[in-house]
Amino acid sequence: MAENKKGHEPSDKAYKEIVRSLQEINDLSSVDAILEKVLLEARALTNADAGTIFLVEKDRLRFSYVQNETLFSAEKVSPEVYSNYTLPIDVKSIVGYSATTGETVDIPDAYALSESASFGFNKDFDVQNNYRTQSILAIPLKSYQQRIVGVLQLINSKNEDSAVVPFSSEHRDLLPVFTINATIAIERGVMTRELVLRMMKMAELRDPTETGAHVLRVGAYAAEIYHQWALNRGVNWKERRRSKDLIRIAAMLHDVGKVGISDLILKKPARLTDEEFLTMKWHTALGAGLFSNATSELDSLSLDIALNHHEKWDGTGYPGDVDIVNMDDNAMGKGRRGEEIPLAARIVALADVFDALVSRRSYKEPMAYEQALGIIRDESGSHFDPDVVKAFDEVFHVCKAIHARYTADTQLNEIPNE
Ligand SMILES: [Fe+2]
Ligand SMILES: [Fe+2]
Repeated sequence: MAENKKGHEPSDKAYKEIVRSLQEINDLSSVDAILEKVLLEARALTNADAGTIFLVEKDRLRFSYVQNETLFSAEKVSPEVYSNYTLPIDVKSIVGYSATTGETVDIPDAYALSESASFGFNKDFDVQNNYRTQSILAIPLKSYQQRIVGVLQLINSKNEDSAVVPFSSEHRDLLPVFTINATIAIERGVMTRELVLRMMKMAELRDPTETGAHVLRVGAYAAEIYHQWALNRGVNWKERRRSKDLIRIAAMLHDVGKVGISDLILKKPARLTDEEFLTMKWHTALGAGLFSNATSELDSLSLDIALNHHEKWDGTGYPGDVDIVNMDDNAMGKGRRGEEIPLAARIVALADVFDALVSRRSYKEPMAYEQALGIIRDESGSHFDPDVVKAFDEVFHVCKAIHARYTADTQLNEIPNE
């Protein structure tokens, strides 16, 4: 990065770069997409090989995003992104220290910590992955009100010759300018996620199988399946990032129409009669109706998914063409088929079925992941779009990590019933 005449102060070019990256971050809606982009930009500003973001969750720090240029390629999503762990907020770890004190921690070599440091360096990750962490910069993510929202940890800054070097004073000066604004975006993303989850909680009160965890999982599978589908199609990265961000949120809302279905049907312990099942099918159109005055791309994608997530590739699904404004129980159309079904709905159809198969329900044990994969492969071309099945197959290992990530988990107010 260019330095000005004074030697170490950040240049105008560096500030312009920060403004540009913040604009791109502000275009994103889902917290995952925001974290990914924040980490990418922070690494670019400091030429860091790797980085992790932790977010404060009650009295702990939750691991929330990771990138590592050496270990995982930037294009492909690695299952490590969905790792599930938290750390206490105390001075015994590097990120804990930063969150406790609100200070930036600058370590030239993680294996040569000063004797006086209250924290140690945990070598487990390096040992497991044959990685060598050297320089570390841990910066608290502070909101305008000085509340600590999380910690951004950058690892192994590199010089022009790709040799690992300590983070520079320029990096330390520059990053807070970026992180204060990035933190606002992260808080906005967290708020959006909570709003969606609250909306789904209303639907969930009706249908206890649609838990917060199920909703988060379906959103994440859909995002990763889309990402792989788009890579296979050669969709450019800008379009990919944008659509992946939107599909994650819209997919979470797939069953929002259940708010309009009676408890007598949703909670009926016995099999539904044909008539009850027909009523139940209307949750698709009811959900779509909530977005019928679509004012944004997110609204129209949510409409597509809510309406079409029970359609099948071979045309045997529902609801087909229906009037979502003047709904009439007798007027459910002939199922849509093939590419008449919007792509996002073809993806969510698979994600929703996969999750139902591998999750425990009051009436059934969870199915093994591989068995569920087999069923989905068998239904390629009948229930599911073959290209979506192919993409799912390719990110199956990530989907398993997602299922594990949002199962034994009680973060936010996310999973009230599990
Ligand atoms: Fe549904
Ligand atoms: Fe669902």
